[in-house]
Amino acid sequence: VAVTERTDHAGTPLTVGIVGAGQLARMLCEAASALGVATVVLAAGPDDAATQVAGHVTIGAAADPQAIADLARCCDVVTFDHELVDLDGLVGLEDAGAVIRPGPRALAAAVDKAHQRRTFAAAGLPVPRFEILDGDAAGDVAALRELADELGAVPVVKAARGGYDGRGVVVADSLEEAVDAVRGWRARGVTVVAEAPCSFRCELAALVARRPGGEVAQWRCVQTDQLEGVCREVMVPGALDESTALDAAALARRVAEHLGVVGVLAVELFDTADGLVVNEVATRPHNSGHWTIEGAVTSQFENHLRAVLDLPLGATDLVAPAICSVNVFGSADGTGPGSLAAALDEPAAKVHLYGKEPKPGRKLGHVTVVGTDAADVHARAWRAAAALGTHVAASAGAAR
Ligand SMILES: Nc1ncnc2c1ncn2[C@@H]1O[C@H](COP(=O)(O)OP(=O)(O)OP(=O)(O)O)[C@@H](O)[C@H]1O
Ligand SMILES: [Mg+2]
Repeated sequence: VAVTERTDHAGTPLTVGIVGAGQLARMLCEAASALGVATVVLAAGPDDAATQVAGHVTIGAAADPQAIADLARCCDVVTFDHELVDLDGLVGLEDAGAVIRPGPRALAAAVDKAHQRRTFAAAGLPVPRFEILDGDAAGDVAALRELADELGAVPVVKAARGGYDGRGVVVADSLEEAVDAVRGWRARGVTVVAEAPCSFRCELAALVARRPGGEVAQWRCVQTDQLEGVCREVMVPGALDESTALDAAALARRVAEHLGVVGVLAVELFDTADGLVVNEVATRPHNSGHWTIEGAVTSQFENHLRAVLDLPLGATDLVAPAICSVNVFGSADGTGPGSLAAALDEPAAKVHLYGKEPKPGRKLGHVTVVGTDAADVHARAWRAAAALGTHVAASAGAAR
């Protein structure tokens, strides 16, 4: 691609390359447009969500180091829409002088759940009791059964790499179901994390934006609601009391500092009777932060760009006391989204559609409502989301 170099009058470089071109890249491009920041996205195909709004589009595989090298050559900083990337390739590129934010060390925690559990446990961060299964089949199954005995419960099993939206996670009712899942993954050489099932009062998410020098900005922690492993609703502040929210924010900051992350970090947490437990992290803008577009002074997308460009971070204060975001999914018959006009009939609804081809269970958009009363914003957001089609994830065949 021919990208015109863009800087401000002080010479600050302002061209961001984004690996992946899904809805997160699309919303990053929207924020970049407002700041006069140029964008180049590395898309898997011409129909990816961000290709309709990016400044420039290149087509290539996110896991191909050469494609990322080509992207790095035409922009000032490389950042990410997802974490399905080749870490070794990124290390090589960084050594060759490319600016990659977040860097491969921070990305590694998001790429590999086994690595994440090990390094977080070693750093004293609260994680569920876990075992990594990456040996021979008989040994792995024996280790899983031993863990189940110790816990007195069926462990949750997860593919260490490649999962998203609950794919790659099995919360089984029976131990045999968990054993089958582990056997299937191990037969394909996939490392598995087996861990204690956490009984939580609620799931929450804490977002941090961090600059290269360590300056951070944090938003109010939010309650998230998952159905079949997929986030369908985010409530601000939701059921979280102030002290839990502050504890979660402090924990997320520790994680950000531990990883040395640059850009936005999302920490998914469980609020359990024994305290907060880290479920997983994403080193990029996150579904739990879409509400920040309308609900905070500065959105997660804008602060991600500001962080990776090493620009001052924006204020993260809430603009209203109650905010609700609801995801819109493709319906089971593969259609959707439904009537935009009907959704917009709810005047408070801010509708975001990602321009994606509908598939069963695929995230096609979200709706945010900002207001003063939690029940009111919840009802309005769900009404608008319902007009756009199903908003409940299909269990089978969910596609990004
Ligand atoms: N140890 C656990 N105990 C109880 N529930 C769990 C556990 N691990 C995961 N879950 C449930 O499964 C959901 C998906 O798990 P996880 O976040 O690890 O997967 P994911 O596919 O990477 O998610 P996504 O990409 O959607 O954030 C969690 O939000 C939670 O509801
Ligand atoms: Mg998750």
